[in-house]
Amino acid sequence: MALRKLVAGNWKMNGDRAALGELAGIGAAAAGHANVDVAICPPFTLVAPAAEQAAGIAIGAQDCHAAAKGAHTGCISAAMLREAGARLVIVGHSERRADQHETDAEVRAKAQAAIAAGLIAIVCVGETEPERDAGNALSVVEAQLDGSIPAEGDGATLVVAYEPVWAIGTGRVPAVADVAEMHAAIRARLTGLLGAKGAAVRILYGGSVKADNAAELMAVPDVDGALVGGASLTAALFVPIIEATARVG
Ligand code: 13P
Repeated sequence: MALRKLVAGNWKMNGDRAALGELAGIGAAAAGHANVDVAICPPFTLVAPAAEQAAGIAIGAQDCHAAAKGAHTGCISAAMLREAGARLVIVGHSERRADQHETDAEVRAKAQAAIAAGLIAIVCVGETEPERDAGNALSVVEAQLDGSIPAEGDGATLVVAYEPVWAIGTGRVPAVADVAEMHAAIRARLTGLLGAKGAAVRILYGGSVKADNAAELMAVPDVDGALVGGASLTAALFVPIIEATARVG
């Protein structure tokens, strides 16, 4: 089943108010390619002004707390993000799994909180280089899915992003055959976990997606879009990825 593609930018801890000027060009490209959904996930401080400015693209965040409110100094709830204008939120990014020691159970709880607040949850999974070298990439990702995917997720509320850790920010991408194998395995696991709903959950590829490799990656079966880091920071870099994705359809 061909799903409508989503190209999402993760600005990570980059960007300031001046950078929001990039949203105009990104939004114009999104409006011109109606067969693709486009999102930008800036830092928390920019979610509200981005949502006020953005036309044609959804604004998301990069994390949320699992609780709706309470004594969690420094944290942000999904409902707060929703009120600020976010439509989606990334949870379980490998940088948070590494830096903040987030577990699969915590990632699932965050995804559940996001969905409960009316956000789309983008759940990230992906193996490290030693795990791939040991031949364990599929089993590692399947275990992450088993632990992180919320049972209530469906095609409207849940997106999975496969981001091999060794491909993030390195300029290295897996062979197309390896992307195809992994995305097929993720699809099978999602169907196992969610039943028929799993067929409608979009599976993004992330890790060094650029203008020059986007078309090839987006044409892989069960690649339903991209999660883009560095190349989402400017319209000049991001728009060609949107265009390449739209051509694949
Ligand atoms: P890069 O596109 O910079 O490799 O980052 C990918 C990523 O981590 C997106 O979440």
